Amino acid sequence: MQILDGQLVSRATKDELKLKVAQLVTEGKKIPHLAAVLVGSNGASETYVGAKVKACGEIGFKSTLIRLEEDISENKLLSVIDDLNLDQDIDGILVQLPLPKHISDEKVINTILPSKDVDGFHPANVGKMVQGLDTFIPATPYGIMLMLEHYKIETKGKHAVVIGRSNIVGRPMSILLSQSAPYGNCTVTITHSHTKNLAEICRSADIIVAALGIPEFVKEDMVKEGAIIIDVGITRVPDASKKSGFALKGDVDFKAVSPKCSFITPVPGGVGPMTIAALMKNTFKACIDKL
Ligand code: GUN
Repeated sequence: MQILDGQLVSRATKDELKLKVAQLVTEGKKIPHLAAVLVGSNGASETYVGAKVKACGEIGFKSTLIRLEEDISENKLLSVIDDLNLDQDIDGILVQLPLPKHISDEKVINTILPSKDVDGFHPANVGKMVQGLDTFIPATPYGIMLMLEHYKIETKGKHAVVIGRSNIVGRPMSILLSQSAPYGNCTVTITHSHTKNLAEICRSADIIVAALGIPEFVKEDMVKEGAIIIDVGITRVPDASKKSGFALKGDVDFKAVSPKCSFITPVPGGVGPMTIAALMKNTFKACIDKL
């Protein structure tokens, strides 16, 4: 069993970008600039956005963090995005999800200029991704593909089972895995809360991507010997022994499952850092594509 070290691959990806930014500086060209919008003060979202802004600093990107009150109106948020769309110095815009209930995710995503949509959530970019055209690939599935590539894991012809059908992870993941090189060339089954015989389907998987958000959902008896396990889940569960008061749990019962598989991502330190690295690659692309 080999651990897929997201910290290590993320660092390597960011180091590559850092060299490219240094090159832009040498050539007197524009430096990538990411605008991150955080609405309210959800603890997990604060952590993720903080990590994204920090990564920009490490690489040499510019970043602007825009914090907005939880009760901001939808119209006000849309006008903040309009301003960012018009700002020539901003290359990429990300609005951290989830948003408060009174704001429509759909309206917000549709307002971001597709050329600045570094999350790859705009329908125009999703459409391009589905057709295999050049676009921004949503950061979590993109990061997972980068990790598989880094470890030279052969995916061609394998049966991949994706658990979860969210627009952020499960659905784009299933599409990328099914696509031809440089993507997965897999046979893909996408499963969700209404799937029958999930355990049986998982047992037939060469690759499992667990992205449903239920801690330790994937148990040892759902996994075939030698399977590749990608754990996207990261749920905060109360833990009095931790200084923070919580522990982070993946969607896979790591202790029970890991001895059975060929490769597995840990939580934390697996998919999470790769999501950040992929977002950085998208931000670089947003800047370069304008040149
Ligand atoms: N919330 C959870 N994952 C993501 C992501 O990749 N991008 C944004 N904007 N919000 C998220």
